[in-house]
Amino acid sequence: MSKLSVESYEKINAAIAKYPPEHKQSAVMAALAIAQDERGWLSSETLQEIADYLDMSPVAVYEVATFYAMYHLKPVGRYVLTVCTNLSCALQGANKTVAHLKKVLNIDLGETTEDGMFTLLAGECLGACGEGPVLLRNNKKMCGNMTPDAIDAMIAELRQAEKRETL
Ligand code: FES
Repeated sequence: MSKLSVESYEKINAAIAKYPPEHKQSAVMAALAIAQDERGWLSSETLQEIADYLDMSPVAVYEVATFYAMYHLKPVGRYVLTVCTNLSCALQGANKTVAHLKKVLNIDLGETTEDGMFTLLAGECLGACGEGPVLLRNNKKMCGNMTPDAIDAMIAELRQAEKRETL
């Protein structure tokens, strides 16, 4: 696979510049997030590329990538939907949210739709317990009060946006 883009390397260099030169490994989390933004997921080649660039052992990079749930070590859909299933959200209907998403997308937790659009994951507390059930989209956009109606509206909006992009 080809190397990460020049733009990604510029972002990684900006992250590295936040630390003393002898501690450039501290930028590993940022580098992984930047690589994942470009590639969608982190292959072993990408982990190796980051390890080489930050002068780290590949296993040290792998340890970070496997410790945090936000990194994907296998291909995922364009939209990764992570539903918080912790107590506050569970008490506010997270189980219904998950069940509805499974039905609408016709996939189970941990799976990706056949068209490659959606991956469904269960996640831990996202720190927005008052707005449960909470869902995180692509590790970036927090969506609160995700009732079945709100889910239907979100899926329809994303499918519509996808259609517009392919026109
Ligand atoms: Fe779901 Fe905290 S329990 S955001």
